[in-house]
Formats: sequence, C-alpha cells, structure tokens
Amino acid sequence: MSATSPAAVVVLAAGEGTRMKSATPKVLHDLCGRSLVGHVLAAARELTPEQLVVVVGHEREKVAAHVSAVDTTARTAVQAEQNGTGHAVRMGLEGLDGSVDGTVVVVCGDTPLLTGATLERLAATHAADGNAVTVLTAEMPDATGYGRIVRDTVSGAVTAIVEHKDATEAQRAIREINSGVFAFDGRLLTDALGKVRTDNSQGEEYLTDVLGILREAGHRVGASVAGDHREIAGINNRVQLSEARRILNDRLLEKAMLDGVTVVDPASTFVDVTVTFERDATVLPGTQLHGTTHIAEGAVVGPNTRLTNTRVGAGARVDNTVADSAEIGPEASVGPFAYLRPGTRLGVKSKIGTYVETKNATIGEGTKVPHLSYVGDATIGDFTNIGAASVFVNYDGQHKHHSTIGSHCRTGADNMIVAPVTVGDGAYTAAGSVITKDVPAGSLAVARGQQRNIEGWVARKRPGSAAAKAAEASSRDPEDTVGEG
Ligand code: UD1
Ligand code: CA
Repeated sequence: MSATSPAAVVVLAAGEGTRMKSATPKVLHDLCGRSLVGHVLAAARELTPEQLVVVVGHEREKVAAHVSAVDTTARTAVQAEQNGTGHAVRMGLEGLDGSVDGTVVVVCGDTPLLTGATLERLAATHAADGNAVTVLTAEMPDATGYGRIVRDTVSGAVTAIVEHKDATEAQRAIREINSGVFAFDGRLLTDALGKVRTDNSQGEEYLTDVLGILREAGHRVGASVAGDHREIAGINNRVQLSEARRILNDRLLEKAMLDGVTVVDPASTFVDVTVTFERDATVLPGTQLHGTTHIAEGAVVGPNTRLTNTRVGAGARVDNTVADSAEIGPEASVGPFAYLRPGTRLGVKSKIGTYVETKNATIGEGTKVPHLSYVGDATIGDFTNIGAASVFVNYDGQHKHHSTIGSHCRTGADNMIVAPVTVGDGAYTAAGSVITKDVPAGSLAVARGQQRNIEGWVARKRPGSAAAKAAEASSRDPEDTVGEG
C-alpha cells in the first residue's frame, strides 16, 4: 500500500448502456480479452485500496457474478433504480465496511482505457493539495455530452461542473470536461451526498453537484488534468468500443515493440492484454493472439494466424495456423494451414505441416506429421515420421480411444490408425494400411489388399478405346512405354 492508497474505490456500473443495443450489459463487453469493467478494476487495483465496491443495477446478477469472478475481493452494492451518479455513489458507500475515513476514489465502469498511473496521479494531487475533492478532467476536441468544468475567471479554481443538458451556450463552449473520475474526502463526500437535490433536467442526483456543495461550505476543490484525453473516453456505443480497441491494441503492441518484439504490421495484428512475449519474437501481419498466449524468444508467428491460450517455444515457426490451448515446443515448425486443437503438445523441433489437424496429441521431439493428416487422442514418440494423408481413427461413434506410436517409427502414407492401438519403437507400416492390431517394435505391418493385375483386360472390355490403343502401341514399341524406368 502506498502513502496515497485510498480507503475505498467505488466503481459505478449500474447503468444499462442502452446505446450498445445489446443483450449483454455494457460493462461486460469485451475489449482485448477483458471486460470493460475488468479493465477499470485492474486500474483501480493499482491504487491498492483498502476496499473496492462495484455498484450494480441493470442486469445486476450477471454483472455481480462477473465482478466476483474477475476480482474475488471486490464487493458489490445494488442500486435498484438508476437515479443518478450521486445516488449510485451513495449506494456504493452503504455497501462498504464501516464509515469511510480517508480518500474515496470514484470511477465509472465504462472507461476501460483509464490507467492506474493516471489514478495514482489523481490521488497524489488530491493528497498533496489537501483537497476535499479532486476531479480528473481533460481537454476534449469535442466536449458534446460531457459535464463541463467551470473555473473562476480570476483564480482559475474549479467552481462547479455543469452537465451538458443543463449548460448555457457560454458554458458549452468550455472544452475542459469531467471524466467522471474523482478523489474525495470520504466523510465530506458522505455529508455532501445527503444534500444533493434532483432539480436538474434529468431529475437525477448528480455526483457532480457535490463539488459546488463542498466549495460553498468552504472546502478545497481541485482538478487534475489528464495528459491524454483518449484515456478517459467512456464507451457508450460500439463505434466507441472499436475506437477503444484500436487505442488499447496500439498501446499493447507499442509496449511489446519497445520490449524487443518485431510487429511487422500493428494495424493487422490484434492482441489481448494477457498475451506475453519474449524479446526477438516476430509477429507477421494478420495475426490475432488471445488469452494467455505466450511467444518465446526468437519465435516467428504468422502471417494470418490465430492463437488462443497457446505457448509458442523459442525459435518456433508458426505459419497460417489456428491453435487453441496448444503447446508448441522450441524450434518446432507448424503450418502453413495447420489447426492445433486443445491438448496438443509438440516436442522440440517437431513438425506439423500443411492441412494437418491435431487434438489431445503429444508429438515427440523431432517427430513429423508433414501433410494432410488428422492426429487425435494420440501419443507419438521421438523422431517418428507419420506418412502423408493419415488419420488417427479415434472415435467409434460412442467413445474416443487413444493410440500410441513409438519412437523412430515410419508409418506409410494413407494409414488409418484405428484406436486403441500401439505401434512399437522403430516399427514401419506399409502405405495404405489400416492398422487395427498392435505392431511389435521393429516389425513392418502390412494391412491392405494384395494387388492383382488382370492382363489384357482393357483390350477385351474396352476395345477400340484410346486406352486400348495406347496399350496396344506400348506393347508394339516397348521403348516408348510411358512411366517406365
Ligand atoms: C457523467 C457525468 C458527466 C461526465 C461523464 C463522463 C454526472 C451527473 N455526469 O455523465 O459530468 O462528463 O459522466 O463520462 O455524473 N451510473 C450508475 N447509476 C446511475 C447513473 C449512472 O451506476 O444512476 C453509472 C453508469 O453505469 C456509468 C456512470 O455511472 O458507468 C456514468 O453514467 P452516465 O449515465 O454514462 O453519465 P453521463 O451522462 O455520461
Ligand atoms: Ca457515460
């Protein structure tokens, strides 16, 4: 806990977010792998508050369940009817343990770009200036819709916040706006909230009225101006959601690049906040990295690749691939056009090639599955080669079964490995085999029909055809036989 750690943070998230036009409550919408309110909670936690309460209202069960899932120590308080931001804070304070002595920071659940650093600056200014309230403000290119910061023309001190709907023409010309984020003296806030009235255009209890009330009572009212106005942007619709995604994605990629990651085209690269990289990783265009995906040193990922909760080992190459919950070993090679499904574990220097799908499969060191294959529910040892166009037949219509292939095996092209079955170390299987029985170590398994040639069949059954003429010519002039030698 730092010197400026607040006694409590109150997160306002009771509103409906009508303009999202969504069945999902606004604050639960996703932004780079985290909900809007999840981002706000993460920033608020950087202040290490003693208590944290989220005010829920619209769809309160869903929102409260989500809050406790992402932040186990957060409390929730219910605002049954959305009677305004002042009313919401009142409900939040009632949900705290005991009366609040010390600083209370109020943030909105729909400002996901707000950083912990900005909140810390606000709390520090608040403490250093000995304010009763400090509001986080910003200069907006377009201030429409926001509450305006009214300052004394002589001293420059903040005198009031006027909501857009209640503002005069002159006040609407002000570009400094209320971000909706405040630091308050907890006790003064509690007293002042009791005095907030509803005589405004929306008939609501405005939190912003607390500033005027405190100032008139002779308390210090201050402001902290955010360096970047984009950080305090509230999300009200899906256009703003996409703008926020662009900004946050750029922020994440910028950090990765400054940490030594090559991102060839940030505009076509998308990452979640939980994705991690090591230096000298390279991300090629058209790549999306989600969840807990980690790209180790020197690995090259992309182009056109989507990895979810996937670990890519050092020096691995992953090209045009979709992977979910997979582990790709160091210096392994995957793709182009591979699909790694959950439970895939690829060993050091292994290879999964083109048009190969894997699921719940452990592939050993140096083992290759190069072409057109499905490997499901299997364990394959080290330095084995799986022939092209092979299928691990794992499903009997009722149950999934497991197959085991040893090390240094060579399975032929077009094999059906019918589980459950085991192929021993160093064994070979013939091309076109349907392997239904275990193959002992070091043996060759041949499991296919014998070839039978019926000579002269074409001449008898297709007389006069082009095939018959070609056959006839080739028997007259064996030197020209196509395909010989
Ligand atoms: C509010 C501010 C405005 C500021 C703007 C910044 C007031 C009166 N106005 O306006 O000065 O410029 O935010 O984005 O405070 N909420 C509740 N319960 C309620 C009402 C709102 O929990 O009864 C929550 C909402 O879910 C939202 C936040 O409070 O997270 C802000 O509410 P919203 O209705 O979006 O306020 P604005 O009109 O944008
Ligand atoms: Ca808003």
